[in-house]
Amino acid sequence: MSKGRILTGDRPTGKLHLGHYVGSLANRVKLQHEYETFIIIADVQALTTNFEAPERLPEDVRQVANDYLSAGLDPEKVTIFVQSLVPQIAELTVFYSMFVTVNVLRHNPTIKTEAKQYGYQDLTYGFLGYPVSQAADITFCKANLVPVGADQVPHIEFARKIVRRFNELYKPVLVEPEALVGEVGRLVGIDGNAKMSKSLGNCIYLSDTAAEVVQKVSMAVTDPARQRRTDPGHPDVCTVYAYHKAFNSDFIPELRKECEVAGIGCVECKKRLAAAINDLLEPMRARRAKYESNPKLVDEILMAGTSHARQIGEQTMAEVREAMHLDYFG
Ligand code: TRP
Repeated sequence: MSKGRILTGDRPTGKLHLGHYVGSLANRVKLQHEYETFIIIADVQALTTNFEAPERLPEDVRQVANDYLSAGLDPEKVTIFVQSLVPQIAELTVFYSMFVTVNVLRHNPTIKTEAKQYGYQDLTYGFLGYPVSQAADITFCKANLVPVGADQVPHIEFARKIVRRFNELYKPVLVEPEALVGEVGRLVGIDGNAKMSKSLGNCIYLSDTAAEVVQKVSMAVTDPARQRRTDPGHPDVCTVYAYHKAFNSDFIPELRKECEVAGIGCVECKKRLAAAINDLLEPMRARRAKYESNPKLVDEILMAGTSHARQIGEQTMAEVREAMHLDYFG
């Protein structure tokens, strides 16, 4: 029996990387058999920052879809859909926006951080309000679990508040979602920077070739105090060790020891890491080849997923309209 519903997803703004994988994608792949899973490609949310370049969306949407399918989401099991094509989400967003105050949005920590990061002086209505729209993404299908990276947790908390408010104002029809954050937490960039991000150029992508992985890992930042092969290492300050924890966890105790007594050198340690990452990515490459050579199949998966999402959305909307006395004609 299903434990309930999952909803989660990504903005289509380019290729997905290992940070996405450990934060959320691994959980989605693992839980797709236990939960009825909905995956949203949040193209409307991408427009909150990219509204001047919508022409990139058709390619970016398919890129993300390919990444999902390659990572092992089974299109027979999960519903992968495009946000802008599910009007029920937009409807819900409007209803929620009646009781969410501007001040609450202005003080949202993620909104503040992102506004600073993008250098926004004045915020668009859509950008300020995207947490409301994200709450609609989660609640239109009554999801109870949301696998996400740690940066998204405030948005899930906010969605819970909206649900509670709606349920007490009108009728208890909505479900309170819970966030599920990947075990490993945030993955640092391969250059040691706190965040793996496209703009910093420190990502390993799910679509990287085996040779690219080897090359990127060989450039990774290690313990700066370890100058010579014979110097003992300090795993806790080493980027490569942090990656071993995420991708090679079975060997962690022995690796720590070997590093600390200079039993293993950085070159060998990196080789092992690249091999572990490539072991993870290899089956993804095989699936990617299949989907990339058949773009029509990917489009069909998205269309079928979108149509299913609309159906589910309509069921929720019928209850929402009834709860809000908007079901004028039965
Ligand atoms: N905000 C998420 C991100 O930037 C993407 C997203 C949109 C999302 N709607 C969602 C995540 C609903 C979880 C649930 O990656």
